[in-house]
Amino acid sequence: MAEGKTMALVMCSTRTPRLNPFIAAYVLDQLAPLLAGTAVAAIDTIDLADQQLPFYDEPVLPACLPGADPTPHALRPRAHAPLYNWSVPAVLKNALDFLFHEWKGKPAGIVSYGFRRGDTEGDMAAAHLQDVLTGLRMRPAPTAPGLITTAIMIAACTESGRVSEYDRTRWRDAGVEDQLKAMARELLQGL
Ligand SMILES: Cc1cc2nc3c(=O)[nH]c(=O)nc-3n(C[C@H](O)[C@H](O)[C@H](O)COP(=O)(O)O)c2cc1C
Repeated sequence: MAEGKTMALVMCSTRTPRLNPFIAAYVLDQLAPLLAGTAVAAIDTIDLADQQLPFYDEPVLPACLPGADPTPHALRPRAHAPLYNWSVPAVLKNALDFLFHEWKGKPAGIVSYGFRRGDTEGDMAAAHLQDVLTGLRMRPAPTAPGLITTAIMIAACTESGRVSEYDRTRWRDAGVEDQLKAMARELLQGL
């Protein structure tokens, strides 16, 4: 296994207010101890809200840029993707479209969240993203944890600054922590 890798935690929702920073902090809390002492030396958080990317309108396909010198970016993403109309937010797809060689070959973990999961929508969003990442020649981890959220969570998290113990317990009981552990193992095996 290679040493000193950096994992990027990509925040994929840019609206205000949003649940995403609180979900990202929760996932980071869970992952940090699992990755301590492994080949992942650091976790960088990349907030797409800070990138201010325009809609992709470059004349050249990212896949046609020289692989040896595509762009200054080099990411190993794990995406925290909210469910928007049975898929991922357009801002995430746009960010993925901007690069090719930088994504290619890298392992990726998907954590999705939305009001529903397990029957249709949440799984569909994660499955859409898995397809897109596979199209980018990435290697999505088979385990893709999904968090069921509620309409009151944004206001509650914004007020308290974090995901409540009630929701953490609810997710733990639903097996989310075990899924995050499995996903971390799969990502490490893919390095
Ligand atoms: C444009 C949009 C579409 C949505 N579509 C769905 C949906 O299809 N199914 C669902 O369960 N929740 C849906 N939601 C609810 C979101 O999953 C929920 O609001 C979540 O908090 C969004 O993440 P964010 O706050 O980080 O942006 C949608 C929300 C938005 C803003």
